Amino acid sequence: MIINVEDARRAARRRLPRIFFDYVDGGSFAEETLAANRADFSRWTLVQRVLNDVSQRDLTTRFLGAAHPLPFMLGPVGFLGLYAGNGEIAAARAAHAAGIPLCLSTFSIASLATLRATTSGPLAFQLYVMSDRGIGDELLEQARAAGVDTLFLTVDTAITSVRERDLRNGFRSLTRITPGLALRLATRPGWCLDMLRAGLPEVGAVAHRPEFGKGALEQASNLSRRIDTRLSWRDVEDLRARWSGKLVLKGILSPEDALAARAAGADAIVVSNHGGRQLDGACSTIAALPGIAEALDGSLEILFDGGIRRGADIVKALALGASGVLLGRAYVYGLAARGEAGVARILAHLTEELSLTLGLMGLTSIAELKALGPAALSRRVASTVD
Ligand SMILES: Cc1cc2nc3c(=O)[nH]c(=O)nc-3n(C[C@H](O)[C@H](O)[C@H](O)COP(=O)(O)O)c2cc1C
Repeated sequence: MIINVEDARRAARRRLPRIFFDYVDGGSFAEETLAANRADFSRWTLVQRVLNDVSQRDLTTRFLGAAHPLPFMLGPVGFLGLYAGNGEIAAARAAHAAGIPLCLSTFSIASLATLRATTSGPLAFQLYVMSDRGIGDELLEQARAAGVDTLFLTVDTAITSVRERDLRNGFRSLTRITPGLALRLATRPGWCLDMLRAGLPEVGAVAHRPEFGKGALEQASNLSRRIDTRLSWRDVEDLRARWSGKLVLKGILSPEDALAARAAGADAIVVSNHGGRQLDGACSTIAALPGIAEALDGSLEILFDGGIRRGADIVKALALGASGVLLGRAYVYGLAARGEAGVARILAHLTEELSLTLGLMGLTSIAELKALGPAALSRRVASTVD
């Protein structure tokens, strides 16, 4: 039974081949930042107020210039279509049934055009800057053609960190299915059948380009090698000039970079450390958020991700200055466990938990929570009992 994100995580571990489960679940090096993203939510406690008629609770809110029924969306996660057959379509359907946007990763099995043909809900696109600018231009064209109005430029992955679980499992060097890998995959027959039904996975954005090779693994490896390691603020300004929709910089962790993002013309930032998958030893996102909110002082919109697994986590991020949050592994575990129904289950669970948490705090709306801001929380007092 899946009643929370941890249940979905356990079900995903049972269903996915280990090489893919570890890829989703793991972080870089010692995984300290991955752990801190979760643990640091506990540094804040929720202020409980009572006797305030909380029988009706309104979770609607605004972020990225639009009204949304819930203060969260599905963030960009690569290779959804390798965790469940047609994974991107399944995730988009569940998101759109709940009325929330999905941001499609550059590293996706489904292309933007395929997604657009299957669902009419809000879609954003996440872009990596490639050293071959022709590819970047083509990706922007795909986004425009699919009616995407918000581009998330990921800025914390100019170089890729080492995820030791992936090294151990051989994920990093994977370009095709070897006999050894086939044997390991065969230990998860449910997943294998699901994949066979969906057909040969390819990276949708570049599948039509023969120089990227055949099949998702080879195409992803060729695409990764083209990510521009010289990415700089000049590229952000350049992209700003070429993209007339909303531009969001994803992967900001310092107040200085938040101010630079504003100066470069971004419409919003995502306070993110890539889910603890890049700079291990970097601070958690919930620890970084208050300083960034203070520096920006309302002059630039802030989104947030990293470690969100509970309704209370969403409350804390909104109280500390985020206009909305991106879910990452939380929905991916649901997808890997049960496909579209699994994502829907996680979204329903987080909605319910968020609503109850608000009510138990004596609040009746996200608007009220945002207006209270940090006053809705207090810092956890260190225990004086040994
Ligand atoms: C398996 C996996 C793949 C990811 N792929 C991308 C990606 O392609 N582009 C991107 O901007 N972020 C990517 N991310 C980072 C997420 O967008 C997000 O920042 C992170 O997952 C948030 O942390 P959480 O999963 O602990 O909530 C990925 C994360 C995971 C777990």
